[in-house]
Amino acid sequence: MFTLPILPYAENALEPVISANTMSFHYGKHHKTYVDNLNNLVKGTDYENATLEKIITETAGKADKAGLFNNAAQVWNHTFYWNSMKPKGGGKPTGKLATMIDSSFGGFDAFRKELATTTVSQFGSGWGWLVLDGGALKVVKTSNAEVPFTKGQKPLLTIDVWEHAYYLDQQNKRAAYVDAVIDNLLNWDFAAQNLG
Ligand SMILES: [Fe+2]
Repeated sequence: MFTLPILPYAENALEPVISANTMSFHYGKHHKTYVDNLNNLVKGTDYENATLEKIITETAGKADKAGLFNNAAQVWNHTFYWNSMKPKGGGKPTGKLATMIDSSFGGFDAFRKELATTTVSQFGSGWGWLVLDGGALKVVKTSNAEVPFTKGQKPLLTIDVWEHAYYLDQQNKRAAYVDAVIDNLLNWDFAAQNLG
């Protein structure tokens, strides 16, 4: 059985950028529904005791496994997203991450601009990501439930740009939500931990 992971902070901890109301729907309803759907889909199959990563990797791109892929990936993506943020986050990374951002993007400001632009420009539902690809950092976007690690990219941070992530708080202003997440909530400790 897959379980809904405990949120790493209180539901109101990311206010005012992400309200407790948004969190109660996004975590308590959307994320939970992906977990419930996944449990129903794996019941009695070889995937019942598999890891999320294994399910995602093995079902990616397979039309007859789209339901499994979408729900498993959305469970993984949302857990990764909650951890990509923290109260009083944002600011700039230090150490190895800062050095790699400088070498990969030409400085933090250029990186920040690329992360915001790429994430905001995802057409329809999806995700913006900072990933490690080969020896360099990259900013990428994915559609719907897609995850970078099925293409060999290691995720370091993500921002959810499905409308359910911001519509109650910022309505149609996706850019305002993305800017606020980057500047106030990004969890650079989590990114550093993922970089290793
Ligand atoms: Fe979401």
